[in-house]
Amino acid sequence: MDKKYMAEPYKIKMVEPIAVTTREQREIAIKKAGYNTFLLDSDDVYIDLLTDSGTNAMSENQWAGLMLGDEAYAGSKNFKHLQQAVQELYGFKYVIPTHQGRGAENILSKIMIKPGDYVPGNMYFTTTRAHQELNGAAFRDVIIDEAHDPELNIAFKGNIDLNKLEKLIDEVGAEKIPYICLAVTVNLAGGQPVSMANMKAVYELAQKHGIKVMMDATRCVENACFIKHREAGYANKTILDIVKEMFSYADGCTMSGKKDGIVNIGGFLALNDGDLYQKAANLVVVYEGMPSYGGMSGRDMEALARGMYESMDYNYIAHRLAQVEYLGEKLDQAGIPIVKPVGGHAVFLDARRFYPHIPQNQFPAQMLAAQLYIESGVRSMERGIVSAGRDKDGNHHYPKLELVRLTIPRRVYTYSHLDVVAEAVIELYKKRDQVKGLRFVYEPPVLRFFTARFEPN
Ligand code: F0G
Repeated sequence: MDKKYMAEPYKIKMVEPIAVTTREQREIAIKKAGYNTFLLDSDDVYIDLLTDSGTNAMSENQWAGLMLGDEAYAGSKNFKHLQQAVQELYGFKYVIPTHQGRGAENILSKIMIKPGDYVPGNMYFTTTRAHQELNGAAFRDVIIDEAHDPELNIAFKGNIDLNKLEKLIDEVGAEKIPYICLAVTVNLAGGQPVSMANMKAVYELAQKHGIKVMMDATRCVENACFIKHREAGYANKTILDIVKEMFSYADGCTMSGKKDGIVNIGGFLALNDGDLYQKAANLVVVYEGMPSYGGMSGRDMEALARGMYESMDYNYIAHRLAQVEYLGEKLDQAGIPIVKPVGGHAVFLDARRFYPHIPQNQFPAQMLAAQLYIESGVRSMERGIVSAGRDKDGNHHYPKLELVRLTIPRRVYTYSHLDVVAEAVIELYKKRDQVKGLRFVYEPPVLRFFTARFEPN
């Protein structure tokens, strides 16, 4: 039986035509792209589930805000609006706009990390870890073991394992840990949330040892909605109350506005400590721009500020989570191996179980993403061994999770688009035995998944 769905809390004012292609055209396109969905032209894509990053549909209120851009080099009024949004909604004192999330990660890593340090986090994110490592730190994964099991259905699979964290502190000493990097929700674990109780406990432990907690706030509103739905005592709280409480357990955050800020570009670093803010303000002028615009134009800061207020609307965020869940349940009912529970921003296909005959070093998830494109024009993203990259000694990281991410942009696609996606995946699953793995023909040294090229074995 088809799942009853939660209808959209918005209507469509403008439409964007999308490409309808033939299988032959798609076979040529994916070959040209080196079997890497990042290298496809968007003109060749029918339904684009590569990412939820910067692919959001802005509201009429945000578009109206763009017309009020104050493009002053210094002291733009839009900066004040952004600052007000960060202070009122997230509760941090200082804000430094950056061109996107990784701009904030760069600055945070540079002002806090010394060579030889350790940064514990609840599973790595690609750009976050890259900045930590480029500044001389070693990343240590302290997420609960359950997060690495795609079949285990528990409410807060993004939680930090306090024993692992305490063990690391004992082992290397608190002075070698500049901060704990706590992500909400955890992207590479499948969009899994962190409970409020866990955030509180991590903060208390960190404070006991004089260590700071820096959150990756990128998908904080999704996390807040999961807390409202799943954690005792939060059902009657507003999303705003929950977000504010979450951030009360942090000393600062990096934010990619391209996700829960519901914009196409932008981000920021937020901090409570005045000295750290001074250091960040000194660096942002080198890498991004003046502290009052960083990497953003006035109009973009306005759209982000407005998007942040909109993101606190329960109907908006509950519908978003419902859309993702709808796709997940459709696939699950058809017996497709997916990560459970379904996360906040995406449904993740488990490529290990989808293509059990393809060894991990022949990139089963990369191949599954390519096959899905050929089958249907749906673009997805590998989140497995290719994304995980190599260690210092040049060996592949072998992540336990070998996934393909079907990422749902905010307010962009309808339930019928999601039906098309589900049908294509189900079709591919029927033909799974015929598919072989891939090998590299070009492998870039860092963040290889963006531009690597492959050919079939
Ligand atoms: N942190 C998380 C959890 C992210 O998912 C991303 C981006 C970033 C930081 C970096 O932010 O892209 O604005 O520089 N994730 C995108 C994705 C790329 O597709 O998941 P950015």
